[in-house]
Amino acid sequence: MRLAVLASGRGSNFQALLDARAAGRLDVEFVGVFSDRPKAAVLARASAAGVHAVALAPRDFATRAAHDESLFSAIADVQPDLIVCAGYMRLIDGSQVRRFAGRMVNIHPSLLPKYPGLDTHARALAAGDREHGTSVHYVIPALDAGPVIAQARVPVLPGDDATSLANRVLEREHPLLVASVGLIAQGRVSQHDGQVVFDGRPL
Ligand code: GRF
Repeated sequence: MRLAVLASGRGSNFQALLDARAAGRLDVEFVGVFSDRPKAAVLARASAAGVHAVALAPRDFATRAAHDESLFSAIADVQPDLIVCAGYMRLIDGSQVRRFAGRMVNIHPSLLPKYPGLDTHARALAAGDREHGTSVHYVIPALDAGPVIAQARVPVLPGDDATSLANRVLEREHPLLVASVGLIAQGRVSQHDGQVVFDGRPL
């Protein structure tokens, strides 16, 4: 399976996918890493691994739609079977989401449908939640609202702050993303009519 990754920052989730591939635990071919931030660390990780890396800064485009049109044309050029949003911090124009419907997943640091959007760890703490976690889901035009493939839960512990909670969640993000992408690569997970299908049955 040809895999493209969209990311804005540090790229530890991309690194987890790379490491799983190197260890023979994930049968994918990385066809490109795409970013909205030219200085993002994820681009250096891609270059170090010999993966095609592209950055397009939104400020170089007049509108969100124009930026996303260029970005997703560059993605289409590498003919991915799946696009993984791994810490991509911008809302994607709906027309591009529809263009890649059923072929784009996102990892989000909350137990969706709780806390779509930003600052999920602080929001879980402020709400007094006793558990928190992360979700991998198919991307639809509405932010962080697509059908969920898999989730991992962590406890919220006394004395947690947003950083300690984010670190606990991140440890679970990496295996969850590798497992989810692996199931898609094996053809065991897909999406039909807004529903996740696992081994031929609606999940
Ligand atoms: C992760 O917590 C991801 O869920 C969120 O942004 C963070 C990205 O981390 N959307 P990294 O860039 O993969 O290290």
